Amino acid sequence: MQSATLKPAQDVLDDRERLLIDQAVAKYADRPGSLLAILETVQEANAHKYLSMEALRYIARETGVPPARIYSAATFYALFSLDPQGDNVVAVCRGTACHTRGSRDLLEKLCLDLGLSDREPDENSEADKLALTTADRRFTVRTVACFGQCALAPVVEVNHHILSHVNERSLQREIQTLDHGRK
Ligand code: FES
Repeated sequence: MQSATLKPAQDVLDDRERLLIDQAVAKYADRPGSLLAILETVQEANAHKYLSMEALRYIARETGVPPARIYSAATFYALFSLDPQGDNVVAVCRGTACHTRGSRDLLEKLCLDLGLSDREPDENSEADKLALTTADRRFTVRTVACFGQCALAPVVEVNHHILSHVNERSLQREIQTLDHGRK
């Protein structure tokens, strides 16, 4: 279990990031779900698709939301990452429906193909929330508890695009397309 406090800052926000957060806070303030919308906007705009500790601190300061609540949201939702991610993010569902339809094998084959089998999980990974990034930062492989699309199991999300009834070959093809296309 991770502590609900923000770790010491390791990153320094530049003016562009500060401005982006200011704009997101101004845009979403007072709307329902504003914190999640702000976090999503800030992560999407980051070159490595993650939320730095310094960004979380700044969001806390600008919104007045307690840092512990912001950290809880950023670590609770699978969408968010506290570590730099690869150019392509592949999320494999590890929920029960997907598990019974072979998602563990899909995950293992994917990690094998990307040379991730013997890598240590990213710093903020938990036992049930794996996050691994290739050395060249081309791919991040993550696990998700459930996409809420259980009838389509097994489900894999590639760069926010949901793939249904995935098998090893179809996933391999998808990854090769991304790799060859150098997306
Ligand atoms: S268990 Fe995979 S989408 Fe629900």
